[in-house]
Amino acid sequence: MYELLLILQLGVLTLVSAVSPSNNYAPAVVQCPAINNGSFLREASSISDQEKAWVESRQQYTSSALVDYLDRVELTDFDAAEFMQNASSPPNIGLAFSGGGFRAMLNGAGHLAALDNRTENADENALGGILQASNYVSSLSGGAWLMGSLIMQNFTSVQQIVYDDNQIKTWDLSWGHQLFADVQAVALSAALALGQLDKVINYLNSWSFTKGGIAEDLAAKQKAGFNTTITDAWGRLLSRQLFPSKNNYLDSSLWSDIRNYDVFKNHQMPFPLVAALGRKPGTYVYNMNSTIVEFNPFEMGSFDPSVNSFADLKYIGTKVNNGKPVDSCINGYDNSAFIIGTSSSLFNEFLETLVCDSCTGVPSLLKPILKFFLNLLRVKYEDVAEYNPNPFYNSEFSGSTNLSSNDTLYLFDGGLGGEIIPLSPLIVKARKLDAVFAFDSSSGWPDGSALVNAYERQFSDQGKENIFPYVPDQENFLRQNLTARPTFFGCDAKNLTALEKDGVIPPVVLYFANRPFDFLTNTSTFKLEYSDSEKKSMIKNGFDVVSRLNMTLDSEWNACVGCAVIRRSQERDGIEQSDQCKKCFERYCWDGTLLPAEPGYVQPMNFDATGLINSTMTLPIVA
Ligand SMILES: *[C@@H]1O[C@H](CO)[C@@H](O)[C@H](O)[C@H]1NC(C)=O
Ligand SMILES: *[C@@H]1O[C@H](CO)[C@@H](O)[C@H](O)[C@H]1NC(C)=O
Ligand SMILES: *[C@@H]1O[C@H](CO)[C@@H](O)[C@H](O)[C@H]1NC(C)=O
Ligand SMILES: *[C@@H]1O[C@H](CO)[C@@H](O)[C@H](O)[C@H]1NC(C)=O
Ligand SMILES: *[C@@H]1O[C@H](CO)[C@@H](O)[C@H](O)[C@H]1NC(C)=O
Ligand SMILES: *[C@@H]1O[C@H](CO)[C@@H](O)[C@H](O)[C@H]1NC(C)=O
Ligand SMILES: *[C@@H]1O[C@H](CO)[C@@H](O)[C@H](O)[C@H]1NC(C)=O
Ligand SMILES: *[C@@H]1O[C@H](CO)[C@@H](O)[C@H](O)[C@H]1NC(C)=O
Ligand SMILES: *[C@@H]1O[C@H](CO)[C@@H](O)[C@H](O)[C@H]1NC(C)=O
Ligand SMILES: *[C@@H]1O[C@H](CO)[C@@H](O)[C@H](O)[C@H]1NC(C)=O
Ligand SMILES: *[C@@H]1O[C@H](CO)[C@@H](O)[C@H](O)[C@H]1NC(C)=O
Ligand SMILES: *[C@@H]1O[C@H](CO)[C@@H](O)[C@H](O)[C@H]1NC(C)=O
Repeated sequence: MYELLLILQLGVLTLVSAVSPSNNYAPAVVQCPAINNGSFLREASSISDQEKAWVESRQQYTSSALVDYLDRVELTDFDAAEFMQNASSPPNIGLAFSGGGFRAMLNGAGHLAALDNRTENADENALGGILQASNYVSSLSGGAWLMGSLIMQNFTSVQQIVYDDNQIKTWDLSWGHQLFADVQAVALSAALALGQLDKVINYLNSWSFTKGGIAEDLAAKQKAGFNTTITDAWGRLLSRQLFPSKNNYLDSSLWSDIRNYDVFKNHQMPFPLVAALGRKPGTYVYNMNSTIVEFNPFEMGSFDPSVNSFADLKYIGTKVNNGKPVDSCINGYDNSAFIIGTSSSLFNEFLETLVCDSCTGVPSLLKPILKFFLNLLRVKYEDVAEYNPNPFYNSEFSGSTNLSSNDTLYLFDGGLGGEIIPLSPLIVKARKLDAVFAFDSSSGWPDGSALVNAYERQFSDQGKENIFPYVPDQENFLRQNLTARPTFFGCDAKNLTALEKDGVIPPVVLYFANRPFDFLTNTSTFKLEYSDSEKKSMIKNGFDVVSRLNMTLDSEWNACVGCAVIRRSQERDGIEQSDQCKKCFERYCWDGTLLPAEPGYVQPMNFDATGLINSTMTLPIVA
């Protein structure tokens, strides 16, 4: 029912024109800065100079954190400090958190907690310190809700949000606090069916033209001369869950502001990347060929040949022609809630997943009404985020006019192209990652599709800049239990020479699929209400997945992860693996086996700690 309400309500939001002015959410005119060649754009031939310098400094922090980690996990026959000192280039580690609504946010919170040395017990029982040893973290959709919550609140920890800050309502998804509180479903449906839009508005909790309401935010942006869509409302709604601790849900907080955060300037957090997808104006198609656009604290852009451009994020509200301002310069367009909303703007998908002829998620009586609203949104181009002005307008670097010829750039949920784990930003050769952790909370129980798609994308036109190791097909993922426990791919660089691009070898990929240990964590993407105990159970289960049940399934597990993250550095310098690491790799690396297809194969639906079982499993809810 909530998925229905979500769409009906947001569908209606956009049909109302706003009137009340404010300065908070609105972008504003600023003095134009002195810029390179008079342009905000650069070609995507490398990472930016700012990112390069930042990561070099971050590397000093991460290298020292990695030495701490490697010492703690007791790698045998290995001197971590000396290894790092000798290394021609130290391990470059990245983390990727998938989309999947609150399921992905909460599972991801558990995964992240297990990597964070600030989490109680994460040092002894999990992989505490890996977060501190990582240079990059990439996220999209539900994963971006997780990262956005932490980053916008001074890179706080999951532990702090969930267990220590009880009064602050971050991630309070319980009844009465969920995104759509106080809604009377029957009355709302009736109002919708009768087309009484004014009445419908009364049922929206956060919609208000008074101070602090979403309507006021949108009106302010419109008054400043910018169009708003459902994504603006969506982002501002999410901000009530994701960063409630500050004044008016951080209505004026910008993604480019991260540059000025002490925790970022001091290199105490990884370099954050948020991914979204581009849609060619006039089409509704999205697939593996869609352009992936990333937001980082310095820039917005894409390494994909279609766009091949990066723009200074702080000034994306400025109307430009090939990067050159044609009007006053604008700041404030890169609102944090808007960017997080863009990455999770999946309204366009509901037509296929909720109201299709064979879809059963919505009562048949309501389906036509819902379909009407969704089609209306689509026709009005309101089912995606509108970036107008288009920062890539007429970009000389773009390999296609698909996205650069229109004055509006249309972006939507980064996961819908098939890469539900935002791997592309981490596997571009320009970033030269050595180890990438991929956390998969895709819907149902994951089957490896996210990795298969990332693998295949490197051979497509848009994936020209990507490098990714070999992986098997989905059936083999399931039959070989590669989703049942963490699995490493690309363990041997010598076997990857055919995938190398410009001398850059694909990273080792450490894959973690959502699995139940104490809780059935395959909740619906559209589930918006979680009790406190459900929320904590989801998070704890995520912790179990990454920690291999508190290290109880393998007491050497944290050492094995150490072996994986140092692998490329060792290979570069011709250092042989220790016997311990060789044994670890036998346990955790996919060895290239491909079982012949078994037509009609269906994965058994029950689970135990090591793999699949065919008996019933009862899972306690942990408080
Ligand atoms: C400025 O433009 C020239 C010629 O197009 C190019 O070679 C140079 O790299 C550009 N400078 C910057 C800082 O982008
Ligand atoms: C976590 O790791 C960082 C980097 O190594 C270190 O500075 C910090 O003291 C550690 N914190 C805890 C609580 O262990
Ligand atoms: C570091 O380099 C020195 C000198 O080449 C060598 O003796 C030592 O074994 C190296 N240590 C490691 C851990 O690679
Ligand atoms: C942000 O967190 C750092 C520790 O990571 C702390 O030193 C600093 O005081 C915090 N800043 C604010 C404004 O809370
Ligand atoms: C807003 O959208 C309308 C129609 O969709 C378009 O004509 C107009 O130019 C847009 N305005 C801005 C400022 O983007
Ligand atoms: C931009 O795309 C929209 C949607 O397809 C279209 O209505 C509009 O005419 C396009 N504008 C330009 C300048 O091509
Ligand atoms: C992507 O583009 C390639 C080449 O243009 C084409 O062969 C392929 O079918 C496309 N893939 C999808 C999913 O549309
Ligand atoms: C441009 O869009 C068309 C579909 O209209 C698609 O076939 C083509 O692959 C796209 N090209 C690029 C470079 O994205
Ligand atoms: C997968 O796990 C099941 C249950 O633990 C086990 O019976 C089966 O042999 C495993 N398959 C492989 C290929 O390891
Ligand atoms: C894991 O460790 C934590 C803290 O030591 C404990 O609370 C929890 O019950 C343990 N879980 C399992 C499954 O052992
Ligand atoms: C090794 O490379 C071959 C292609 O040359 C590939 O088919 C195989 O899957 C690779 N093995 C592993 C373990 O990645
Ligand atoms: C699981 O399946 C195997 C093989 O089909 C069967 O021998 C075994 O009895 C089943 N176990 C349970 C608990 O049903």
